[in-house]
Amino acid sequence: MSNGRVFADIADRYDRINRVLSLGQDQAWRMRAVSHLPSGRLLDLGAGTGAANEIFGRFEVVALDPAPAMLARNAAPNRVVAVGESLPFIGESFDAVFSAYVVRNLHSLEATLDEINRILRPGGRAGLVDLGRPATRVKARVHRVGTGVVLPLVGLVAGARAEYSYLHHSLDKLAAPEQLYASTPFDIVDIWRMGPLGFVYGVVLEKRR
Ligand SMILES: C[S@@+](CC[C@H](N)C(=O)[O-])C[C@H]1O[C@@H](n2cnc3c(N)ncnc32)[C@H](O)[C@@H]1O
Repeated sequence: MSNGRVFADIADRYDRINRVLSLGQDQAWRMRAVSHLPSGRLLDLGAGTGAANEIFGRFEVVALDPAPAMLARNAAPNRVVAVGESLPFIGESFDAVFSAYVVRNLHSLEATLDEINRILRPGGRAGLVDLGRPATRVKARVHRVGTGVVLPLVGLVAGARAEYSYLHHSLDKLAAPEQLYASTPFDIVDIWRMGPLGFVYGVVLEKRR
């Protein structure tokens, strides 16, 4: 199943499902990254239904997502259908980029980071939040067993088995964030883990001046 199909299929239930699975913490996890970003023009990359809109008070937001079905539910005034790997904006035209729960779904994180670097002004920042596995091997194994049981059950109840199977497998797709962001064109301002067993991470990157 392609990730485009996944998000088109669950668009109407996406926010509810996310809130339940995160035990109501998804917005607090987003907020911690947003609090590190400079004011001004912000790109919400993979904005989906606009779940983060309520915490973007001080920003002029552009919401970007490749799934029209997700974006159709997003109330942001500026919406763009596109992918992170090819951003339809001129260079140095944003102060900040925010992206929550998107990195695992990208075709290429490397190409997307290059694009973020291109569109940010020098000193601009990107705040990324995503899910993965806990840092230690034992905790990661426990977490893998847990999501292998819980997510198919939730999928069965929600009538979306393929989508939940996709979520379970996507958690193992990428390296740990400490490795993933070690050699990028940016300076790392901060990187942290949160949530049960630390399976959620946040990272703030700054474009070099
Ligand atoms: C799990 S949802 C997160 C939505 C929103 N950021 C949030 O915090 O609720 C992942 C989003 O990433 C989008 N997406 C998938 N591939 C993408 C890509 N290559 N570039 C940008 N967004 C992508 C999906 O369409 C989907 O809306």
